[in-house]
Amino acid sequence: MMQEDQARVLRSKLSVNETKTIAIVSGKGGVGKTNVAVNLGVALSLQNKKVLIIDLDIGMANIGILLGKSSKLSLMECVKKRESLQQSIVEYSPTLQFIHGGSGFAELTNFTSDDITFLLREFRFFYEYDYVLLDLGAGANHQTFDFIGSADEAWLVVTPEPTSIMDGYAFVKLAHHHANELPVSVIVNRATNGEEALETFDRLELVSSQFLRKSLRFIGFLPEDQTVVKAVKAQMPFYIMDRKSHVSWRMDHITTSLTGVRVKERKFLDRLLSRLKHGKDHVH
Ligand SMILES: Nc1ncnc2c1ncn2[C@@H]1O[C@H](COP(=O)(O)OP(=O)(O)O)[C@@H](O)[C@H]1O
Ligand SMILES: [Mg+2]
Repeated sequence: MMQEDQARVLRSKLSVNETKTIAIVSGKGGVGKTNVAVNLGVALSLQNKKVLIIDLDIGMANIGILLGKSSKLSLMECVKKRESLQQSIVEYSPTLQFIHGGSGFAELTNFTSDDITFLLREFRFFYEYDYVLLDLGAGANHQTFDFIGSADEAWLVVTPEPTSIMDGYAFVKLAHHHANELPVSVIVNRATNGEEALETFDRLELVSSQFLRKSLRFIGFLPEDQTVVKAVKAQMPFYIMDRKSHVSWRMDHITTSLTGVRVKERKFLDRLLSRLKHGKDHVH
């Protein structure tokens, strides 16, 4: 009897501590991955979720710059010196921490298979976080899929331009090949409105399901918004700079769809679903 109780307590603790790892990816650079990773991280942390963002776009000092904080030891240095990654964690707030990838000429592709084994083993220590967000460099290859494939899901960032949709499709193809089971979800960034975002998603979804039989999930969209540009210049997450901006409001929708569905959000999702099913309704 007592053992059963203990087992139940243990199970509930494990489920409370379940970490969700999301790889933020794209076909080409400059589409908004780092902004998505950082601001999603901030928004989640403000909902009292414990978040770790790991910069895997090594060579580009992305996250540290956006958060306006530097670190002593980078992920790259930890791996090369076989030091625990815990040493490289930088605290932005009690619920938001990040790991700087490392600058210089090195890239993720320079890692040996021993380096990767070491790093993936280190990732297991991250169970105390609710969310681990991996910010990846543009373009994926055999080696980056060691990381992307270790995530629970990939969030593919695309913009409405046809070239971005094609680059996004190239990523889906690679994911299909290297990590067939990995769920791929899509965020449309820099959209004019919801309608354009859905059209972008539909195009990508159509080719993916037609040629690869891989279905994609639409997570949401972020509008083109000067707040993002201003925030990047000020080295501050847009979600903190202007909580009331359109882009922050949309980030709220995305965050809520991860953490739990609010009534407001459900209405939005219902409209999206009905539009996807019936084709024509407008989504604002
Ligand atoms: N929603 C947006 N509205 C306006 N500008 C954006 C938006 N998203 C990204 N940008 C611009 O694009 C740049 C690149 O974004 P970033 O997140 O660094 O892309 P990536 O990490 O994919 O290379 C930003 O510095 C910003 O100027
Ligand atoms: Mg980036």
